[in-house]
Amino acid sequence: VQVPTTVLAAVDSSVGGKTAIDLGAGKNLAGAFWQPSYVLCDVNTLATLPMEVFRDGCAEVIKTAILFDEPLFMELVRDGLGFDWERVIARCVAHKRDIVAADEFDRGQRNLLNLGHTFGHAVESLSGFTLSHGRAVAIGTAMAARAAVHLGICDQGTATRIMWLLQKFGLPIFAERTAAELSEAALSDKKRAGDTVNLILPQKVGSCAIVPTPVSELESIMQAGL
Ligand code: GLY
Repeated sequence: VQVPTTVLAAVDSSVGGKTAIDLGAGKNLAGAFWQPSYVLCDVNTLATLPMEVFRDGCAEVIKTAILFDEPLFMELVRDGLGFDWERVIARCVAHKRDIVAADEFDRGQRNLLNLGHTFGHAVESLSGFTLSHGRAVAIGTAMAARAAVHLGICDQGTATRIMWLLQKFGLPIFAERTAAELSEAALSDKKRAGDTVNLILPQKVGSCAIVPTPVSELESIMQAGL
């Protein structure tokens, strides 16, 4: 039974049955799929969170909106940190439920949930895990948006909207690292299949693409995302 008491756990880690631990070599490197029997999410538990922890989880809420839900994105633009917890969390959980039901073992569409995570895990791991997960995901999401513009996958207006919303929530959008450092860290991440990495890149708000990318191109794409 999972009882999430942070925004991050409520909208992401308590749903979908991914269980893992971090190893010295990287984040979430040992784990298994094991679905909980029950998830009890009482949003009243969020009222006592330090603001920094609350804010951190909002990176995953914003991620969900960019992936699947432009009206939700617009609601976050309008309400900022004052969003309706119960309704917004329920909506994020519904999106994640649908993806997990379609691809429980992360062999296809579930990859989309890694938006911001390939770049983000690299930043997080280079910080020695002193940078929180949500902040790393925010930086990774902004990098993915800038890289997508460079690759002609999305327009500058979309990237600007994404970066603006992350900043409205007080989340960082720049990695203070070089592309070489980031790509080396990303390549020790578990989300690598042989010589390609599946990058998740926004096309527009509410729709993202899974882009299989040769490892040899990762550093230059990271550079474009800086
Ligand atoms: N947190 C990403 C996933 O559950 O697939």
